Amino acid sequence: MSISDSVRESMSSSSWIRRMFEVGLELKKKVGVDNVFDLTLGNPTMEPPPEFEAELRRLVQNPVPGMHRYMENAGYPETRDAVAQQLSLDMGVKFSRNDVMMSTGAAAALNCILKTILNKGEEVIVFAPFFAEYTHYVNNHNGSVKILPTNEHFIPDLNKLEAAITKQTKAVLINSPNNPSGAVYDAQTIHDLAQVLEKKEKQLSTEIYLISDEPYRKIVYDDTIVPSVFQHYRRTVIANSYSKDLALPGERIGYIAVHPECPHHKDLMDGFVYCNRTLGFVNAPAIMQFVIRKVQGITVSIAEYQRKRDFLYSNLAAMGYSLVKPKGAFYMFPQSPTANEFEFIEELQKYNVLVVPGTGFGTPGYFRASYCMEDKTLQGSLNGFKKVAEKFHLC
Ligand SMILES: Cc1ncc(COP(=O)(O)O)c(C=O)c1O
Repeated sequence: MSISDSVRESMSSSSWIRRMFEVGLELKKKVGVDNVFDLTLGNPTMEPPPEFEAELRRLVQNPVPGMHRYMENAGYPETRDAVAQQLSLDMGVKFSRNDVMMSTGAAAALNCILKTILNKGEEVIVFAPFFAEYTHYVNNHNGSVKILPTNEHFIPDLNKLEAAITKQTKAVLINSPNNPSGAVYDAQTIHDLAQVLEKKEKQLSTEIYLISDEPYRKIVYDDTIVPSVFQHYRRTVIANSYSKDLALPGERIGYIAVHPECPHHKDLMDGFVYCNRTLGFVNAPAIMQFVIRKVQGITVSIAEYQRKRDFLYSNLAAMGYSLVKPKGAFYMFPQSPTANEFEFIEELQKYNVLVVPGTGFGTPGYFRASYCMEDKTLQGSLNGFKKVAEKFHLC
């Protein structure tokens, strides 16, 4: 089979999430869909909000001439205006359409950003646990990933960050609310992180981007506030999408936004648009751009996610699992009762419960459970969690 060595190698070390999902498919064939409790994917089972459905229906019934054609590679100006207006409200900084490019989800946004800024071998710093695809995205564009630890609450250790930045460091990539931990960085953390970047830029005479990957920004619980990264650092770019907060991951719609006062702003935007085109995305899906502009500020029910979080968290904690209560997103990241989490995961599979090993997120000894699932799936997983907790003497 003649495929490139690099793709072959990357595939062999590829996503644990997908691998576990495939295990789930096999298991479902064997024991029936209703008997498998698959907590592997971040694929929301909630339907999009009624406002989204209504706008989509209205559009289909009243088509706009030309609505299926190519448009500017950056996206429709009216959609970028609507996104900029909402960002100005949410972020405390004034945005215009010139700061926004519509993308094919956050995944494409990140690839466009990384391709635009990275020279061969330049480093992108990420904090473990991190979204597993980051390493692939950075490799796509010939960069190199440097992985730094977080503390027991999954918050970055900024002393270690300061020590790790070199002349080769081109960007720090953060994700808060975080997949897989559910951690949310507070304003002080973002402020301190920005101070470290500014200090190192001066010391090393370099330019370091802060890339903030924010698809879960609106999915937060209790009184948690997600601070605006733009208020702390000018050389900031965010990748965002509607995959999670509007439950539209299959529709592939998101955007890049650049700080209006970011140095080299025009070069960056031109670079993103060029990369959007030449990476083959061309433009974000047209119909979604029409719909999205009318549903800014709307989300799925966050209260529903909070209820699901409380259910799974309180049950796992009562069984003796050691875990940090997630403040946002829809994942939890408990410690495995065995140092080698694969042993635990194998045991859990005997009860048809599927989770993802922490190794897939750069953090062995943990596992990720997604709770964006139907209640019956969450409920059904408890027996397996309890039996395995008993086996490993948690309770
Ligand atoms: C942290 C993080 N970033 C990016 C993505 C990609 O999202 P999208 O569907 O918008 O491409 C995901 C999807 O799960 C994610 O969890």
